[in-house]
Amino acid sequence: MGPLGIFDSGMGGLTVLRELHRRLPAEDLLYFGDTARVPYGTKGSRTVKEFARQDAQFLMSHGVKMIVVACNTASAFAIDYLRETMPVPVLDVIAPGVATALSRTRGGRVGIIATRGTIESGRYQQQLAEHIDEARVTARPCPLFVPLAEEGMLDHDVTRRIAEEYLAPLRDAEVDTLILGCTHYPLLKGVIGDVMGPDVVLVDSAEALAVAAETELERQGLRRSANGGGRLEFYLSDLPWMFREVGARFLGRDIDEVHTVNVNEAAFDGDPMRKDTP
Ligand code: DGL
Repeated sequence: MGPLGIFDSGMGGLTVLRELHRRLPAEDLLYFGDTARVPYGTKGSRTVKEFARQDAQFLMSHGVKMIVVACNTASAFAIDYLRETMPVPVLDVIAPGVATALSRTRGGRVGIIATRGTIESGRYQQQLAEHIDEARVTARPCPLFVPLAEEGMLDHDVTRRIAEEYLAPLRDAEVDTLILGCTHYPLLKGVIGDVMGPDVVLVDSAEALAVAAETELERQGLRRSANGGGRLEFYLSDLPWMFREVGARFLGRDIDEVHTVNVNEAAFDGDPMRKDTP
């Protein structure tokens, strides 16, 4: 009965950790954020896959009973590989987001905003196209949202202007449901909601992912039954200058203790420019 392992490219996955802790308060949660190598969203698929492998192996070395890939970009490029190679269940953040969007859409016009890597992978688009007409799916990268969220510019004029620019094609496509397909975007929900208008449903996958984790733990007989008492442990590959402020913003509370680790033991000889997947 080890902890649940959660990893992300950085601190954004703390939004997922917060939701898991709320839903599963008895579980010990071990978080790894690859702050030394963030962002993943601008990198090639081979690089992200290799980083995800190292991140998952680090969690395995702490005896986790399940791995939650909180990072959308890592989910997009590495989920199949991780499921094949890791000896514990591996959950991704994309499938729960897609399922929620499909259950909420009224007219079947769904938008996705995410990092460039996630959009290029086509993963969200493919999963949606299994259920709705591909022509009704609009996907756009919003790369500047990540640094804006980290800087705490959550309700700033600059953020609003960038959101108007990025979201114009989604408004033109008249999407009725918009998936926030990146760990950082839920923090910008206010601005995104204002720009898209009150009739557009914003889907934040963290909640749906926590429900999926609970279901899977129960299915595997791995769920702890106590009412609370789960411990949170934090590991980062670098201590960014702003980690206390940024961490608290994403987690919704202060982080008392952080361990720094180097997960890059295995030499990486991949060529990030070679596009072998998807
Ligand atoms: N965690 C990434 C994601 O959800 C966003 C930050 C990054 O680019 O690494 O896609």
